[in-house]
Amino acid sequence: MKHRFFLRSLLAVAATAAFALPAFAQAPIVIKFSHVVANDTPKGHAADFFKKKAEELTKGKVKIEVYANSTLYKDKEEMEALQIGAVQMLAPSLAKFGPLGVKEFEVFDLPYIFDDYNELHKITQGPMGRTMLDKLEPKGIRGLAYWDNGFKSFSSNKPMKTPADFKGMKMRIQSSKVLESQMRSLGSLPQVLAFSEVYQALQTGVVDGTENPISNLYTQKMHEVQKHLTMSEHGYLGYAVITNKKFWDGLPADIRKQLEEAMVQATKFANDVAKSENDKSLDAVKKSGKTQVYVPTPEERTALKKALVKTHAEMESRIGKELIQSIYKETGFDPAKL
Ligand code: LMR
Repeated sequence: MKHRFFLRSLLAVAATAAFALPAFAQAPIVIKFSHVVANDTPKGHAADFFKKKAEELTKGKVKIEVYANSTLYKDKEEMEALQIGAVQMLAPSLAKFGPLGVKEFEVFDLPYIFDDYNELHKITQGPMGRTMLDKLEPKGIRGLAYWDNGFKSFSSNKPMKTPADFKGMKMRIQSSKVLESQMRSLGSLPQVLAFSEVYQALQTGVVDGTENPISNLYTQKMHEVQKHLTMSEHGYLGYAVITNKKFWDGLPADIRKQLEEAMVQATKFANDVAKSENDKSLDAVKKSGKTQVYVPTPEERTALKKALVKTHAEMESRIGKELIQSIYKETGFDPAKL
């Protein structure tokens, strides 16, 4: 008798547990966040920070899987993967949105359009930046934030001091028509390559040189296969953090809100550390002794600037004169004053 009572109680407990179980065992929402750079870079650190914050704020209801260093997808493939929903988040550089048909982002590639992070933030952290992100919506993409990397410098196996030094050099670029025009304005031969292919292309001589913020150069060990680095800091490289719009809109409202909060915090973190991360990498490159780091004189810098800024007028019809002018207005840049 006692035995049967015990058995019945046991079954009741088991039944309650079985009903209760789905609530406890509900699988977390998984967000695959793919990117192409090393973990130890501004973007890598920011993606890891976002993961931590997002999992914390959603109390584990969301799991972020970060795939760094092109382990999941390379440049072009990652964009396609996001659109079909194979991954949920990316942070491609702004130079990589042109092939998607959103040419406005290439305005960020114009050489010397921003002198420093402060000028840049007037755009990326202001209403113009938001309007540009909204242009991604018809492509099934929701733009969440801008994360900084830094200002690019040229590297190659020969010294580059004057515009003439660039003549005939095969230079790797990202998939941006503005960067193509920029390299041509120096008489170089631009070659689009996925980021994951750059080290080998430099090592084997497929290309002679490239341009990068120092954090990318150092963490991909490009300084080991490039004898010279000219601190031209001629152009900006940063990211738009993006998600698949359908996925994002389909999230429970409370979770979406928590993820938005995690993104606000990650963006602050990203933009706070970007400069010091690049400074750290520059120190490491210098210490390695593998590359000669050259800082152009003011005269050399002006000559380079004059040659490169021609790109602005050349790209007007592609990017839009109005957009370029409104950036000049925000930052105070005036090409006529060079
Ligand atoms: C590049 O391809 O050089 C960069 O866009 C890589 C990156 O994501 O910083």
